[in-house]
Amino acid sequence: MIHSWRLDDAHQTLVLAAQGARLAAVVYWGPRLPDSEDIAGLHAAGLIDLTGGMLDDIPALSICPEAGRSFQGQPGLVLSDDAGRPWVPEFHLVGAEEGEGSLVLSYADDNGALSYRARFGIDRETHVITAQASLESARPMRLHWLAAPVLPASQHAADMIDFAGRWCGEFQPVRTPWAPGIRMRESRTGRSGHEHFPGLIVPGQGATNTQGEAHAWHYGWSGGHRMVAEELPDGRRQIQFGHASGTEPEAGTRFETAPLYATFSPDGINGCAVAFQRHLRDRIVTWPKPDAPRPVHYNCWEAVYFDHDLAELKDIASRAAALGAERFVLDDGWFGRRDDDTTSLGDWVIDARKYPDGLTPLIEHVHGLGMGFGLWFEPEMVNPDSDLYRARPDWVLGPADQIPGRNQMVLDMSRREVRDYLYDRIAALLSDNAIDYIKWDHNRLLPTPDAEQTRGAYALLDRLHGAFPMVEIESCASGGGRIDFGILGRTQRVWLSDSNDALERLRIQHEAALFLPAVVTGSHVGPRRSHTSGRVLDIRFRAWVAAQRHMGFEMDPRELSEEEAGVLTSATTWWKANRGWMARADILRLDSADPAVIAEQQLAEDGARFVVFAGQAATSAQISPRPLRLTRLSAEAMYRVDLVNRADLTGLSRGNPALKSGPVTLSGQYLMRHGLTLPWSFPGSMWVLEGTRLQEEGTS
Ligand code: GLA
Repeated sequence: MIHSWRLDDAHQTLVLAAQGARLAAVVYWGPRLPDSEDIAGLHAAGLIDLTGGMLDDIPALSICPEAGRSFQGQPGLVLSDDAGRPWVPEFHLVGAEEGEGSLVLSYADDNGALSYRARFGIDRETHVITAQASLESARPMRLHWLAAPVLPASQHAADMIDFAGRWCGEFQPVRTPWAPGIRMRESRTGRSGHEHFPGLIVPGQGATNTQGEAHAWHYGWSGGHRMVAEELPDGRRQIQFGHASGTEPEAGTRFETAPLYATFSPDGINGCAVAFQRHLRDRIVTWPKPDAPRPVHYNCWEAVYFDHDLAELKDIASRAAALGAERFVLDDGWFGRRDDDTTSLGDWVIDARKYPDGLTPLIEHVHGLGMGFGLWFEPEMVNPDSDLYRARPDWVLGPADQIPGRNQMVLDMSRREVRDYLYDRIAALLSDNAIDYIKWDHNRLLPTPDAEQTRGAYALLDRLHGAFPMVEIESCASGGGRIDFGILGRTQRVWLSDSNDALERLRIQHEAALFLPAVVTGSHVGPRRSHTSGRVLDIRFRAWVAAQRHMGFEMDPRELSEEEAGVLTSATTWWKANRGWMARADILRLDSADPAVIAEQQLAEDGARFVVFAGQAATSAQISPRPLRLTRLSAEAMYRVDLVNRADLTGLSRGNPALKSGPVTLSGQYLMRHGLTLPWSFPGSMWVLEGTRLQEEGTS
């Protein structure tokens, strides 16, 4: 007998099926199937044939492939009993609960000691499938590996795309051809990591941002993940995601994976990106004030570093407000005796040398300017040179002789007394001061990855949120070292990168949009000469790159010339005028025919307007700009398209593309097939275009 289940939304169908009581396998995941499809029949239809050199039956590539049933690829579960003896379960079905867009399958081990549960949900609005596995045991077991429910990868795909990165260079896509064997990615840093963003895209052959089909995965966990993409000798392919191996060092009776988010797009990689962007914004993030616009930030880090002086900070705050900032974030340097990065992490007490009357005078000044006030913390860390470490050296995670990172050690967040101490310190500061924002940093790699550390950090964040639900939190880890849907279930913004170099940022933002909407993606206008690359970039470019996401400033405003301040103020005014609809827009990556141009289109929820950001990241090979094709417009509709920053034309643009002199009115078809012809521009510049769909004649 075949059991079968289906989950559908308008874009996709996921079919699971099983022979008798065996573990279910995903037998179809792709474009929506007709309602009349005989889904039980898909099991037999998809059975692969046998020939020489194989067993006499095909071991199922199930949601948790079982070594005990002769599955010869990577199993979904690796376990031993408390004495260290391998435990190889064979599961049988004990229950299936089907709901509206949900399915829970429960299994028990034939030996009776274990139960395995897989939960699936499909979100019909966002098109994201959420899948999570858990394991319970009657007696303590040692878990070596538990995969979230396994989804197969298409055999029609030629490549897979996962992500590498580094400090100041996050989200570097790595395209690997499929081949027999395993591609494994593992973050053993204790963070989701700059180096290993937990995401995967498997594009169909020929798929681009705007066309073709694609499947995508994201593992929503901040403690480091392991991904296994395996092609078996028989050609089948499986994708496994779970916590990094060895991160459950203690024997236990209950284990659970993080939620795995997955989506299929029938219309380009953008379909996956939009699904993740919307799901994160509308389902994962908790917004303290859902209807409030995202405020323009000012962060003082690159202006003053550790050198805090009240009068100077007030002056900077006044200048930032005049430029348009609406939230002032006091970064590192306000606590303990933190004059550099060698000291005081853990001592979350205002430094009376720098702030003899506490933070109130600064906060009142900031409030007087109409801005909110945010404060930097790095709660999970301690410097050996700190009162906390001197009092509680035993609170440190890992061995005493470990290699430090940025002169600091990690606190053991699994310990209740550590979390209580941090809660008390942070809660006292939040209670005594009008603080509505925290920048929550995590600047070093763990000595060893441990899931309990991540659970501890989550617990502290959850407790603080319970007590201070109106305080927003930004997740930072030397820039983008802790970006994932797990941390974003507890925070509202990510510091995407420590690079404020707009050229680097343009690329990082473009790639990060595969998963992140604009509203959570912090982007600041940096100093004229970037502190992390040494590159000098024009204020126009810096301002427009920041305006692509959640905008802010991070330079010393005293370095701005009058002209620069004017440019920045007007770009900020533009951003404020548009942030309402842009907060709900989809970021669509454009297929630029010119590799020197990195371009995107943010399309309003109702399709009635859009903005295109076309960044000239390098000098083009050809003399004149290639037409830029737009996407997801209505072919029949007419659009009025105008250059927002026509004033940025240079003298080397000598011709007459229509856009140089005024708006153009073009059909969606033309814009999507021929593309927009842009004026010539310098490398390190950005064209910003606004589009409006015109009412059809005769309609009002
Ligand atoms: C990290 C962050 C920076 C800044 C410093 C402060 O490097 O990424 O933005 O907050 O810490 O020490």
